[in-house]
Amino acid sequence: MSPTATFAPSCSSVSVDSRTDEVLPVLGRDVQVPLVTGGEAPYAALDYAASAPALQRVWDDVAAYAPYYGSVHRGAGHLSQLSTELFENSRRTVAEFLGCREGDQVVFTRATTDSLNLLAAALPEGTRVFVFETEHHASLLPWRAHDVTYLDAPRSPEAAVATLESALHAAPAGPKLVCVTGASNVTGEVWPVRALARAAHRHGARLVLDAAQLAPHRRVSLTELEADWVAFSGHKLYAPFGAGVLAGRADWLRAAEPYLAGGGASRRVSRTDDGTVEVEWQRSEARHEAGSPNVIGAYAIASACRALTEAGFDRLAAREEELLGRLRKGLADLPEVKVLSLFGEDADRVGVVSFVVEGWNSSHFAAALSAEYGIGVRDGLFCAHPLLRTLLGQRGDTPGECGAAGGTPALNAIRVSFGAGTPDEHVDRFVTAVRELVRDGARWTYRTEDGRCVPDSA
Ligand SMILES: Cc1ncc(COP(=O)(O)O)c(C=O)c1O
Repeated sequence: MSPTATFAPSCSSVSVDSRTDEVLPVLGRDVQVPLVTGGEAPYAALDYAASAPALQRVWDDVAAYAPYYGSVHRGAGHLSQLSTELFENSRRTVAEFLGCREGDQVVFTRATTDSLNLLAAALPEGTRVFVFETEHHASLLPWRAHDVTYLDAPRSPEAAVATLESALHAAPAGPKLVCVTGASNVTGEVWPVRALARAAHRHGARLVLDAAQLAPHRRVSLTELEADWVAFSGHKLYAPFGAGVLAGRADWLRAAEPYLAGGGASRRVSRTDDGTVEVEWQRSEARHEAGSPNVIGAYAIASACRALTEAGFDRLAAREEELLGRLRKGLADLPEVKVLSLFGEDADRVGVVSFVVEGWNSSHFAAALSAEYGIGVRDGLFCAHPLLRTLLGQRGDTPGECGAAGGTPALNAIRVSFGAGTPDEHVDRFVTAVRELVRDGARWTYRTEDGRCVPDSA
């Protein structure tokens, strides 16, 4: 690319060949990690729900743009203009990806947590918020400065709609917001978003969708789902460059004080006759994007949106279904393994599965998967403590000593999650490892260090 050329994103070609059993190539697929038992193994990244590996395509797009990086919005230079155009084009790409309606805004944030806190700060006075106890803390906690109605965990999608409907019916008049996840970060189960949005609207409420786990796996369209806002994180959408998105209705965002006060959010600032400072705030998305925008983060998200759209969500979902089938069948053969679920066996789910193993502290189990098999999963309560307590049937914390003889039960679980770059081998190795650990036990000894379970040194 010549320095005077207008920068353009890559088209669908990628710089590496796809393997036949991955929908989109990701970085890190050939990384070797040491095993405590000796030798190395290719790292099996099965923690996509926490942070997915970057798509090769996203990495290539960011690398191609990097030399052209410049200040956004305020610079007069060529690269500033180019970067500003790229940033605003990224906004348009994301709006299209999310099926935004005429007049919707797309605000670039740091991640889902930031997006939902932004919306919480923008709620009209007197808003009552409705939220299920099953939510990730990012969607459970930001509303606490408002009146919040916490709803018990439903045991089916239909029960979720009925529970919300009766809570809204009993609510006093005034602005109302429902916050709901699209897919659980614990069970992977898909929530009935459109039915919940319709129920909300029937009662004069609005709905914000936490799509942190849904957007990487399924098409999320504000128009089709009839949701008012959606929030998601770039780092879970294969674009780990520190940006996220809040998109949806402009009116509450425009009426609110800026989320952060500062440059970019303000249109005109002047001293008043009484010596104070008067500000006229922006009415566009910039109102809530004070400070220098994360242009690379926004561009990376737009690149991921293009790549996922081109790959096709039908194809992504079909591939994931295949992997889920392999995984769930492997776990179902082991009576010691209990898979966590709210909606039951037949629930629609994305590639996220949590489970506990009888007689094992989950932290010990996850440490052995890593140290002995090179498999990266997550253990703990997954920032969804109330849901885990409901699913595990325990109300208080049960201390669990990692690596104690036979393992000591604790209030925690193991989560395995995957997506567009996952080859069959990762899931097959995982199922084999779980079977061997359950049947034969760990081959190494482990201890607790700084609250983490770690292998004893050789
Ligand atoms: C369902 C859900 N919502 C929100 C979040 C918070 O996302 P972030 O940490 O990117 O802000 C997560 C993170 O795991 C999540 O799984």
